[in-house]
Amino acid sequence: MPEGNAAPAADVREMFDRISPVYDLMNQLISGFQEPRWRRRAVREARLSRGKAAVDVACGTGKVTRALAKRVGPSGYVIGVDFSPGMIARAQATRAGGLNVSFVVGDALALPLDDATVDAATIAFGMRNLVDYGRGFREMTRVVRPGGRVVCLEIARPSSRLGRAIQQWFDRIVPIIGRLVGQGDAYAYLIRSTRGYPDPERIAAIMRESGLEDVRWVPLSGGIVTLHAGTRPRTGPASAADGETTAS
Ligand SMILES: C[S@@+](CC[C@H](N)C(=O)[O-])C[C@H]1O[C@@H](n2cnc3c(N)ncnc32)[C@H](O)[C@@H]1O
Repeated sequence: MPEGNAAPAADVREMFDRISPVYDLMNQLISGFQEPRWRRRAVREARLSRGKAAVDVACGTGKVTRALAKRVGPSGYVIGVDFSPGMIARAQATRAGGLNVSFVVGDALALPLDDATVDAATIAFGMRNLVDYGRGFREMTRVVRPGGRVVCLEIARPSSRLGRAIQQWFDRIVPIIGRLVGQGDAYAYLIRSTRGYPDPERIAAIMRESGLEDVRWVPLSGGIVTLHAGTRPRTGPASAADGETTAS
């Protein structure tokens, strides 16, 4: 049995389709308006420059995708992939302001990209939804070029006292806000999916097992969110690096 989300993928897709109209607003509210800061950190970790290419996996309405596209400029290229047609429709409807960006319906576990075709692969608040985390990271590693970056931003179960206090607020307030917008079930799922997600050391280990090296992670906002990043080795076959995981 792979290590991953217990909820069936078809149910998850249907749920994200259903909440796509309220998704951006809900995100701002339940993150206490912190999410732009978290996304900026994730984009920086992708270490992209002008003219580079990237894929944003489980892109939702495309916030990270467009931020990556801004980084690489008109000579670069970014593709956003999500299995929810509702989310992709919202992403496509948002003005991209001359950026070289496109959005496609596709599965994170079978990305519609050839091997080693982009310089970075990102996933923001998507990994915990996948039925097989290892396969998700292996797919991201497969499509990045040697030396390219794999970045994962995700909600975490914090260990600090401050983080746990924020978490308790989150666990209580999210279902209430969810019910207010008529999506109680969906936001109860959000809490369940974060409870089932592995701790940061285990995620780092899965990333190394997927062939990434120099895997590092950093807790954000008291540890309620964690940012992981690793590099596809420049030489030799993708192999598990055995260095220590560092919280920095
Ligand atoms: C919490 S949203 C995050 C969206 C966006 N990345 C963001 O930062 O706002 C999770 C997204 O993952 C997508 N997703 C979940 N499982 C997926 C899969 N197997 N393949 C592609 N997308 C998936 C959902 O459709 C949803 O849009």
